[in-house]
Amino acid sequence: MSPALPSLTVEADRVHGELEALAALVEPDLPGWTRTALGPVDRQARELVRRWMRDAGLETHVDGAGNIFGRLRGTGSGRTLMVGSHTDTVVGGGRFDGIVGVVGALEAVRALREADVRLEHDLVVVDFFHEEPNEFGLSCVGSRAMVGELTQAHLELRDEQGRTLADALATVDVDPSALLAARHDFTGVDAFVELHIEQGPYLEEHGSQIGLVESITGISRFRALFSGQADHAGTAPMDRRRDAGCAAAGTVLAVERIAGEGMQSRGTSGQLTFTPAAVNVVTERAEFRGEFRGPEAEWLRSAQDALTSAAQDEGARRDVDVEVEWLPLQEPMPMSGGVVSVLGDVVDGLGLSSTRLFSGAEHDAALMARAVPTGMLFVPSRDGRSHCPEEWTDLPDVAAGVTALTHSLVALDRRDPPPDWDGAPG
Ligand code: GLV
Ligand code: MN
Ligand code: MN
Repeated sequence: MSPALPSLTVEADRVHGELEALAALVEPDLPGWTRTALGPVDRQARELVRRWMRDAGLETHVDGAGNIFGRLRGTGSGRTLMVGSHTDTVVGGGRFDGIVGVVGALEAVRALREADVRLEHDLVVVDFFHEEPNEFGLSCVGSRAMVGELTQAHLELRDEQGRTLADALATVDVDPSALLAARHDFTGVDAFVELHIEQGPYLEEHGSQIGLVESITGISRFRALFSGQADHAGTAPMDRRRDAGCAAAGTVLAVERIAGEGMQSRGTSGQLTFTPAAVNVVTERAEFRGEFRGPEAEWLRSAQDALTSAAQDEGARRDVDVEVEWLPLQEPMPMSGGVVSVLGDVVDGLGLSSTRLFSGAEHDAALMARAVPTGMLFVPSRDGRSHCPEEWTDLPDVAAGVTALTHSLVALDRRDPPPDWDGAPG
C-alpha cells in the first residue's frame, strides 16, 4: 500500500443518522424493515439517497435501469473508480443489507472532501436499483442491466398472477425498453468496490473485523409447476388422488437432500403455493420456487438435473404433470486478485484484523465483476443473522468498514499503473 496513509476521519454518527433515516422509510404493513424495489417506498428512499449525494457534492444522474449515480470529479486522469451497493430490502429484512455499502460510500466521499484529499480518478457512487430477488425470481436488476446481461426474456417472466416483470417495473416508473438499453460504458473504469455486511457467522466466529471476499456464489433458481386434480378431502381414496401438493412437498425435500450432498452448497425452498388453498380440497395445482447456490458451476448444473428428475419422479408417482423451468445459471464469480490484494494491504495497514472468505450471499459486485475489476469488504453480522429483522452490525464495526473502504479508494487511486487485475475477465 502507499506508505503514508492520509489522515481521514469517518464520522460514525453521520453513518448512523443515515442508517436510521432509511430505516424509517419502510412499508408500514409488512414485518421488519421492508422496502422492496417494486413496492411503494423504495423510490422515496432512493430520492433521499440522491439528495444525500448532492449534499455530499456529487453530480447525480439516474440511468434507464433506475441506478442512481453520484460523481465526484477527480483531478483529471479521465479514469474512474466506482463504489456502492443497494438500498432495497427483502420482505421482513433488516436495516443493514446493502444500505451500509451506499451510506458507507457517501461517508467515504465526505471524509475525502473534508480532509482535502483529491483523487486523480473520478469517484462514482452507485445505489443499484433492485438488488434483491422479486416475485419473478430475478435479482440484481440494475447491475445486470449495467453489464448488459438483462434480456427481453427476463422482462417476460411472470408472477403467479400472470403479470410480467415489464408490467411490474412500469408501476415504479422504470421503462422496460430503457432498462434494456441501460448498458453502462465501463471505458476507463479501473475498479469497483462494494462494502457490505457479511450476512453469515464466519467473521464473528473468527474474531475478524473485516472480510476480504475472494469469490461470490453461483446461483441457480427454478420455478416448478405441478398440475393434478382437485378432489374431496374426505371421500377421494388415497390411492386415486392426483395430489399436486404432495408432489411439490416431495420436491421441497429433494432440494434439501441435494443441497446436503455438495461442498459449501445450499438449497432453499423459498415459495410454495397450493391452489385451491382450502383445507378440505386435494390440491390441484402447486407452484414452487427455489434455488441452489454454491462455489462450483459444475455442481450447480448437476443439482439442476437431480432436482428436475426428482420433481418428475414425485409427479409420476401421483399422476401429476410437472414442468420445471430454470432461470439462466448465474456462474460463481471470483473477485479480482489485484483488487483484493490492494484491499488486504489497506486493511493490514490500518491495523484491522481480516479473513479472506467466500460469499454465499449474492451481490451487485458479482455482476460488476463481469465488466470491471472488483473487490468486496465485509463487516461482521451479529450471530450471522440476515434477511430478518434481527440483522445487526455494531456501529464501530460499520465505521471500521467505512474507514477501510475510504482508504482503499485512495490506495486504488494511487496505484499506477493499475495492479495486475487477475481474476477479472478481460
Ligand atoms: C441477496 O442478498 C441474496 O444473497 O439473495
Ligand atoms: Mn439481501
Ligand atoms: Mn445485499
